[in-house]
Amino acid sequence: MSQNANEVLKDRERLAELGGGLARIEKQHQSGKLTARERVELLLDPGSFVELDKFVTHRCTDFGMESQKFYGDGVITGYGTINGRKVCLFSQDFTVFGGSLSGAHASKICKVMDLALKTGVPVIGLNDSGGARIQEGVESLGGYAEIFWRNVQASGVIPQISLILGPCAGGAVYSPAITDFIAMVDGSSYMFVTGPDVIKTVTHEEVSKEDLGGAETHASTSGVCQLVYADERAMFEGTRRLLDFLPSNNLDQAPRKVSGDSADRLCSRISEVLPDVSTKPYDIRHIIEDVIDDGDFLEVHQTYAANIVVGFARLNGQTIGVIGNQPAHLAGCLDIAASSKAARFVRYCDAFNIPLVTFVDVPGFLPGTAQEYGGIIRHGAKLLYAYAEATVPKLTVITRKAYGGAYDVMSSKHIRADLNLAYPNAEIAVMGPDGAINILYRKEIAEAEAAGKVLEARAKLVNHYKETFANPYKAAELGYVDEVIDPKFTRVRLIQGLELLAGKREAGPKRKHGNIPL
Ligand code: HXC
Repeated sequence: MSQNANEVLKDRERLAELGGGLARIEKQHQSGKLTARERVELLLDPGSFVELDKFVTHRCTDFGMESQKFYGDGVITGYGTINGRKVCLFSQDFTVFGGSLSGAHASKICKVMDLALKTGVPVIGLNDSGGARIQEGVESLGGYAEIFWRNVQASGVIPQISLILGPCAGGAVYSPAITDFIAMVDGSSYMFVTGPDVIKTVTHEEVSKEDLGGAETHASTSGVCQLVYADERAMFEGTRRLLDFLPSNNLDQAPRKVSGDSADRLCSRISEVLPDVSTKPYDIRHIIEDVIDDGDFLEVHQTYAANIVVGFARLNGQTIGVIGNQPAHLAGCLDIAASSKAARFVRYCDAFNIPLVTFVDVPGFLPGTAQEYGGIIRHGAKLLYAYAEATVPKLTVITRKAYGGAYDVMSSKHIRADLNLAYPNAEIAVMGPDGAINILYRKEIAEAEAAGKVLEARAKLVNHYKETFANPYKAAELGYVDEVIDPKFTRVRLIQGLELLAGKREAGPKRKHGNIPL
């Protein structure tokens, strides 16, 4: 090969690596954002990135575009490793036509997604784009739809993660929306279907970009995004940590991570965390952290529907998906948001062979017209459906309350949990004592009220009800609870259960797909 040919290659590569040019790179830095290439370098293991389609350019000849071409056409695609494991990725380059999506840009993304799906490795999208390339019209829209279609094909086969690092607006939001996890950078990323200007014209509402579609909004109010980071570097660190918990595809197991935390360790803190009074709140995370390896819990969707906690952890090195009612928020009631949040998480874990460990402390479904009108029947059913459909190992620990329909929903024996444990203080019944005695003893309570002895009468009836129903022993007698355990044995029992269930195989009836109430 001639010296000259090599020089030509190097020149082209240098040009491609400059993206939209030094001035636009400077502008990107001034707005507090890293460039597409800097991001890839920080996300992947050093030196592992292999770039594809570096010299692709757009094919547009309208609006004078034939004279404005940049190698790569606004997106960097390729593969590399994260902690030694292969991933495919694309990173939109805002310095080239604002990272907008042309036909060529879309084809590059599709190509790397196809590669990820064929090879069974996760795909990570770094989004920073002004949306459809306006000069390309329908070719750009078609490009988006090609990506959406691939997102759906890849769903449940390879993990798909969307990192939002700038604008993501209009129909462009629907690719991240189909992926498994959306992470946003606080203050510099936003997502919306229609922006503030359109909203003002149509509904006369005035709202800032940040309030409409910033990270905080989507993490806490809409529930669109599961993870928020203070800056881009923290996001890349967080994404590397998330991937460590996940298998590369649905036929694979998550990597085991050896820990110094012994499988025989007793959980010494749980008894202190559980309050003496059953109406007192406590933070379920303290129990979860006492049980799992090294207290290492990656909570997702942390600020959305705080009445249920979901996230990844490990037990004896094996990844588990943890779901826990949170008594510290809304007494741990199930509501619309909590049901949808947990249902999606349960389905994710089931798709990717991640066993489910559920901590139950639920007084029931949240009452109220807002919930009923909002469709708690439909949304609550999602969680019930998700648990019932899941065939991964399902282990359940009732830490305190398991009342009413919520008892059934929260990974009960009846919807085929494999191992159901309860603490001695557990209360498993149709409803709480106060509500129950009001119905069962309406006449007696009215009589006591007339006699001025209602407090004593109620206390007696509540006690009687609690002794009869508000304990784990009725359920244990029926075999609905496999074992009532001292809380200190929680970790030991869950690890033993996981070991037993490692070979679990369960198949449902043949069908095209079920009809989850969406
Ligand atoms: C072509 C675009 C572009 C686009 C930005 N640019 N968006 N080029 N198509 N969609 C170019 C700009 O011309 C500019 O080029 C460079 O990118 C940077 O843009 P600025 O406006 O200078 O940057 P900034 O001030 O940071 O504003 C960013 C922005 C704004 C908020 C994203 O550019 C913007 O509003 N763009 C249009 C967004 C939009 O309406 N997109 C279509 C949405 S609908 P130079 O040469 O000056 O550097 C959609 C439908 C998808 O996407 C449907 C899927 C089914």
